[in-house]
Parts: sequence; C-alpha cells; structure tokens
Amino acid sequence: MDKSFKNIFVEIDNGIAVLVFNRPDQLNAMNRQMMDEIIEAIISINANEEVKVAVIRGEERAFMAGADIKEYGNQTTEEFISFQEKGKRLYEVIENSSKPWIAAVNGYALGGGFEIALSCDLILASEQATMGLPEVFLSLIPGGGGTQRLVQKIGINRVKEMLFMGSALDAKQMYDWGIVNRIFNEEDFLNQVFDFAKKLSRRPSNSITELKRLANLSLTEMPFNQRISDEANTVKDLYLGEEAQTAIQDFIKKNK
Ligand code: COA
Repeated sequence: MDKSFKNIFVEIDNGIAVLVFNRPDQLNAMNRQMMDEIIEAIISINANEEVKVAVIRGEERAFMAGADIKEYGNQTTEEFISFQEKGKRLYEVIENSSKPWIAAVNGYALGGGFEIALSCDLILASEQATMGLPEVFLSLIPGGGGTQRLVQKIGINRVKEMLFMGSALDAKQMYDWGIVNRIFNEEDFLNQVFDFAKKLSRRPSNSITELKRLANLSLTEMPFNQRISDEANTVKDLYLGEEAQTAIQDFIKKNK
C-alpha cells in the first residue's frame, strides 16, 4: 500500500497484510482521524487480491486503549454520532471481509480496541494482553457492538460481570473463556503471530472465505435448515472447482 497515514501504517509481505495502530504515546487510542484511516486501510486490504491473511496489531505496549477520551471531551454531538456510526462500519468491514482477520493483541485492548479484536476472526494474545470494556467508568457503555458480540462468544453472566464491573481481564482468563485462540510468549510474540499467519495464508483462499462466511452465518437468525442447505451448495460448488479437483487428483496420485 503506497498511501501513508498519520496514525497507522500498513505492511504487506508474502500475502500477509499487517495494519499497525501507531499512536503509542497515547496507547493507540483511536481519534476520529485514526478511525477514518483504519477504515480506509481495511477496505483497501480487503480489495487487494495479493493479500491472503490480514493481521491487526498495536505499536509498543498497547493494542488499543479504546476511543480517544480526550477527543470525546472536545467534540460536538454530531461528531460523536458520526464517530459511533463509522465505528459500526469499521467492525462490519472486518466481519464481512472475504479474508481472515487476526487481532494480535500485545497489551491493552480496551473499549473500541477490544471491540475491534472481537470483530476479527481470531485473537492471538501475548502473555501481557489485557482486555475489557471499561466504558462504565465514564458513565458510558460500549458503542461498537461490545455488548452484543461478546454475548455471541461467551456466556451472558460473564459478559454482564465484565460490563458492570468494567474489569479488564488477562490473556489466560480470555483464553479459558474461549475469546483468545492462542497465547504466545511476550519475547517472541510477533514471530509466532507471523508463523501462524503464514500457515493460514497457505490454505486455499476460496475455502477460507466460505468457511468464514458460513461460520458467521451460524450467528444469524437465518433458519438452521437454510444454513445447512447453504453449506451443502457451497461444498458442491467448491468440489466442482478446479482447485479441489486438482487437490483430489494429487492426493490420489500420492496415495497409489
Ligand atoms: N484516550 C485518550 N488517551 C489515552 C487513552 C484513551 N482511551 N488511554 C490512554 N491514554 C493516554 C494517557 O492519557 C496517557 O497520555 P499522556 O502521557 O499524554 O498523559 C498515555 O495514553 C499513557 O497512558 P497512562 O494512563 O499513563 O498509562 P497507564 O499504563 O498508567 O494506564 C490504562 C493504562 C489503559 C489503564 C489507562 O490509560 C486507561 O485507563 N485508559 C483509558 C481506557 C478506557 O477507558 N478506554 C475506553 C474508552 S471509551
């Protein structure tokens, strides 16, 4: 990606795009300009055929400590509403992407930062990661889907406790509750994230796209039978495709 941003940067190498939050002196807190940049970068990554896997991470000691509270104190109601509306779009462009998105959570992922991680397909966390929705301390609530997406992933009583108490929980707790996929050690965190992303990038993109779509469909209100039919039609289409036919013939040749 040639475009240079002020609050983020993007690196693309070997089919892996990495979007980096880059306001480390403010723990990567997201202001309005940064939100616009993140959305633009995600849309561009989604459209890039070279990219097989996308990773989001934060520079230095935080993933993202949430919305920029200082900017919250200095904006019009219209600006606040527009920020929330754009936020909705941000989470959707990740969820509706045909590519797998990985949140590599190295430190604090709070408020909107945690909501971005929740909209990713997988969360890889360092031992130092801390995640939570502390909006209650500002007499607010999460506005980026946190109250809803978290319930899709963990039990409602646990969600209510997290929301009511505003508690930030460590990687081990988030792993035990099924939010975090893997915990990697602090020293080697980025290498382990890249190894994981590389492995994923070698899987056939068309299968991954359909797997993501169908898994997400399971969270919708579409009738179960319709979702099962969609799966059956999809596997038929993939089976008839050149990639699957070649892979099947290769397997047969190797196993003669
Ligand atoms: N918005 C704006 N600035 C933020 C921020 C946020 N959400 N989170 C951290 N920062 C800034 C701090 O103001 C500080 O800036 P300064 O050095 O210019 O004063 C800098 O980032 C470092 O943060 P600091 O609080 O000194 O670090 P810490 O290690 O002591 O504490 C946190 C870390 C995450 C516990 C603390 O910063 C915090 O509670 N942040 C707010 C989290 C939040 O409520 N998020 C939801 C927002 S809706």
